[in-house]
Amino acid sequence: MEYILETKDLTKVYGQKEAAKDVNLHIQQGQIYGLIGRNGAGKTTIMRMISGLSRPTRGSYSLFGKTGLAMQMMLKDVGVLIEHPGLYPKLSAYENLKIKCIGVGIKPKGYVENLLKTVGLENTDVKKGAGSYSLGMRQRLGIALALVGDPKMIILDEPINGLDPQGIVEVRELLSRLRDERGITIMISSHILDELAKVADSYGIIHEGTLLDEFSAEELHERCGKSLVLRTDDTSKTLRVLENMNLHGAVREPDGSLRIGRGMDRAKEISKAIIDAGIGLEEIYLRTMTLEEYYLGMTGGEHNG
Ligand SMILES: Nc1ncnc2c1ncn2[C@@H]1O[C@H](COP(=O)(O)OP(=O)(O)O)[C@@H](O)[C@H]1O
Ligand SMILES: [Mg+2]
Repeated sequence: MEYILETKDLTKVYGQKEAAKDVNLHIQQGQIYGLIGRNGAGKTTIMRMISGLSRPTRGSYSLFGKTGLAMQMMLKDVGVLIEHPGLYPKLSAYENLKIKCIGVGIKPKGYVENLLKTVGLENTDVKKGAGSYSLGMRQRLGIALALVGDPKMIILDEPINGLDPQGIVEVRELLSRLRDERGITIMISSHILDELAKVADSYGIIHEGTLLDEFSAEELHERCGKSLVLRTDDTSKTLRVLENMNLHGAVREPDGSLRIGRGMDRAKEISKAIIDAGIGLEEIYLRTMTLEEYYLGMTGGEHNG
């Protein structure tokens, strides 16, 4: 598989602290990749390295299949919005974009107007400074700034953070449109898995500097969907009973119970088969995990975000 971005043991050490540790992440072309982790997990650290804004302590990464100097040249195809967009508060959305365009030598007529339209800011009052915009408008302007120069990939650090529900929907829709209509690959971070659940195609979970897991949206929904939980006095024998019923793929939970992602409509039949096999059935129930539960289960403890 060829990835548009791949990191290899990417590590950043600040003093004694490993803010990112041996991170190996993989982003496919045309995807929205959600980097999920609590505050302080290392999201910004990783994004800054990938954007060329800070140098890895060790490890490397490839962009568009290139490494080293050739990769540095590819950074021009990457648009970046890290932390807060650097806006000129007294200037309008139009003027902020115009300045960036001039800075990078983009002149086509109508270019700024198009960008404003793309992010839904075409009707902003040109006399009003960006400093007076709502947070959602400022984030969309930040995304427009990242789009200057038509990058193939954009890196957005927590653009949804602090937005109201309406603002979240707008940013999600904008990201889907950029992916679907322009084929832009998007890497986006958030401290709330749920916020990206409706928009990302793949996820990476970062915790205390370490990438715990990577999975697709499909896998996530499989893992979080309804499942049947069983607790018996003989787990191995129970597994055999399930397999005889064509219910493969049961997962042993740390608490000793078994979880299966199918056979939800066969609970009665399953209980009977277990009892008939002489196994003591202690519990059997249906359970749905929310995305947030899944995420918390993986990172342990309370949410601090
Ligand atoms: N410039 C820096 N100097 C020292 N420590 C830093 C610096 N930047 C980040 N850190 C530390 O690295 C860890 C990860 O931070 P960060 O990447 O900003 O996390 P996130 O973006 O996920 O909230 C935190 O413990 C943070 O305090
Ligand atoms: Mg951050």
